[in-house]
Amino acid sequence: MDQSQNEGPELTQKGAEAKGQNGIQNGSQASAPAKGKDNGLTNGEAIIQTEELKKTYYTDAGALEVLHGVDFEIKSAEFVAIMGPSGSGKSTFMNILGCLDVPTSGTYKLLGESVGDLSPDQLAHRRNKFLGFVFQGFNLLPRADLLENVAMPLLYAKVPGAERNERARAMLDRVGLTPWVHHRPSQVSGGQQQRAAVARALCGSPSLVLADEPTGNLDSQTSDEIMKLFCELNDQGLTLIVVTHEPDVAAYAKRLVRFHDGRLVHDGPVSDRRRP
Ligand SMILES: Nc1ncnc2c1ncn2[C@@H]1O[C@H](COP(=O)(O)OP(=O)(O)OP(=O)(O)O)[C@@H](O)[C@H]1O
Ligand SMILES: [Mg+2]
Repeated sequence: MDQSQNEGPELTQKGAEAKGQNGIQNGSQASAPAKGKDNGLTNGEAIIQTEELKKTYYTDAGALEVLHGVDFEIKSAEFVAIMGPSGSGKSTFMNILGCLDVPTSGTYKLLGESVGDLSPDQLAHRRNKFLGFVFQGFNLLPRADLLENVAMPLLYAKVPGAERNERARAMLDRVGLTPWVHHRPSQVSGGQQQRAAVARALCGSPSLVLADEPTGNLDSQTSDEIMKLFCELNDQGLTLIVVTHEPDVAAYAKRLVRFHDGRLVHDGPVSDRRRP
């Protein structure tokens, strides 16, 4: 793997801060993903490893196994797209990877540690420090404005107020939302909410971003801008897993994984990768 990918994301002003037609800014003033040396990872080390991961939901209608033993590994600075039919278990898998849900059996190691062995406090610490999550359906706080929403991971990370606001504003600018920083989610469009959710996931400078259909509600131009931003951050060392139904969106990734009926049925490099 290219050593430079994990050298540390010294951000350059690539793109000369030109803005796309959507106002999404190319180049960056926003903070970059955590450096390898800060997160204890060396280049090429597995960030995530699952073995025989199974998930069963228990409902009134009975038990439903939706993941049937998934073996998966992702290394630092990879960029993976996950595709698969509706109901094939993609979100279930992502929720487990994001430590928002637990597997019924099998093992999940995050940064080399078995998640099942961590206390709730240890888990919360790892989640705050290393992970950014874009949920399917945004999950923005309705009573907070976009600035407060995007700064939220920094609040959990105990970053001082002035720095929180500065970093959140820079990230909102990066996704073209500067005019709406003091609007609440209900006062902006679905696409703008989606961009705020992406900004929130990136704001804490995570090592790994898990994005569940981050462009699901966006027009093709805005979704291209979001994917270009992901590519740029991936070039600087951010590890990404993006669930999508759109082949055009998946084509920005380096590696493609397909789910079918709760099984991982394909895992390989993206041919004809789209580059910004
Ligand atoms: N909390 C739950 N309780 C019971 N069953 C659930 C729950 N969450 C998901 N399921 C079921 O698990 C299966 C997988 O759902 P999941 O949300 O992981 O699919 P998905 O691949 O993300 O689909 P989509 O592309 O539509 O988002 C589905 O059959 C779904 O109905
Ligand atoms: Mg889903």
